[in-house]
Amino acid sequence: MPKIVYVEHNGTAHEVDVAVGESLMQAAVNHAIPGIDGDCGGLCACGTCHVYVPAAFAALTGTPDELEQGMLEFAFDTNETSRLSCQIKATEAMEGMRLQLPARQY
Ligand code: FES
Repeated sequence: MPKIVYVEHNGTAHEVDVAVGESLMQAAVNHAIPGIDGDCGGLCACGTCHVYVPAAFAALTGTPDELEQGMLEFAFDTNETSRLSCQIKATEAMEGMRLQLPARQY
């Protein structure tokens, strides 16, 4: 069960044990992490689960597909490291990954 660290825009870090196969959005919502809303429940239809993935983990999390890329256009302050956390499923190899959260979700 990898530990994922969610880092709020103000620097507050929250360490969460995430079950392998669980989405990084769902784990954050289950633990009431401030800054991850997940309004659509993980259907890639709201863009309120935006996170920044560190470069060292980019190969593990993959790249956004066309649907996710389209939703990211509605997210706040995106960059090349932006992902929708509902589209990333936890793996053991993600142990210690620190996800930065944007200043707001929309
Ligand atoms: Fe809605 Fe991720 S939870 S796009």
